[in-house]
Amino acid sequence: MLDDLLNASGLPRREAIALLEAASGLRREALIAHGSDPTPSEVQALFERMVAQRRLGVPIAYLTGFREFYGRSFWVSPATLIPRIETELLIDTVIDLTRAAERPLRLADLGTGSGCIGITLALEIRSAEITATDRSAAALQVARNNAAFLGAAPKTRFFEGSWFDALPRDRVKYHGLISNPPYVSAGDPHLSRGDLRFEPKAALSPAATGDGTTAQSDGLSDIAILATGAPEWLETGGFLLVEHGSEQQAAVIELFRQAGLTRVRGLVDDQSLPRAVIGFRAS
Ligand SMILES: C[S@@+](CC[C@H](N)C(=O)[O-])C[C@H]1O[C@@H](n2cnc3c(N)ncnc32)[C@H](O)[C@@H]1O
Repeated sequence: MLDDLLNASGLPRREAIALLEAASGLRREALIAHGSDPTPSEVQALFERMVAQRRLGVPIAYLTGFREFYGRSFWVSPATLIPRIETELLIDTVIDLTRAAERPLRLADLGTGSGCIGITLALEIRSAEITATDRSAAALQVARNNAAFLGAAPKTRFFEGSWFDALPRDRVKYHGLISNPPYVSAGDPHLSRGDLRFEPKAALSPAATGDGTTAQSDGLSDIAILATGAPEWLETGGFLLVEHGSEQQAAVIELFRQAGLTRVRGLVDDQSLPRAVIGFRAS
């Protein structure tokens, strides 16, 4: 019986239903409509395994295998960050900036993870042509699958490698570079709490430096690489847009200015938290 199973899980009802949907392959409406039917033993066994994992803290998205982003379902795996709602600010910003564009727009999503940023831009902006990169081959495979599954593959190409090193050296300049890079400082206590415990460390915090120093203590070293390299890869008037932590905005604005970007400004998310910075390449 549905209610007995959900109550016995000890999880919040919303979470228990999400896991039962995944275990049974049935949508919530069907589960409720058949709520008094006996649950098949294999569904119950799978559900109980998922509940046990959830009780250990495993994120719901890694158990169900997907997360919603900008109204679409993206497959995720433990190799990818779980897309966050605050990252939708990057999508809204790029859509606003490119609304009037008629020519093809070359956009790059650097550190694509599940592909949620690049694929969403490919699907939301008719003239967008997306180049998406990541240092993680496993994440890129998830992103490729999402592009195929969501119908964005014809407008999206994927490359493996570190930041600008991953981009093809075909002298192409980009109209926009967009990134949600790792920016959590290595010592941040949030890394040992909640979902973050299970997400790839390389997606959350900048990698350690080769010389063993902790240049990443402020979490800004990847953003610094992106800001410094951006002017070389942007066409005149093109933009760099990055997400950052809510206490990093002043420092990120400074990094953009030092890199020679102009019209630099900070953006806030739906919760009015400073969340992203944009800057443009002057002539
Ligand atoms: C915060 S996650 C963002 C993932 C996805 N764009 C999103 O918003 O959900 C950062 C991503 O950058 C990738 N990454 C980390 N270091 C990188 C590097 N040096 N070059 C390219 N990608 C990198 C990670 O593998 C991860 O997928």
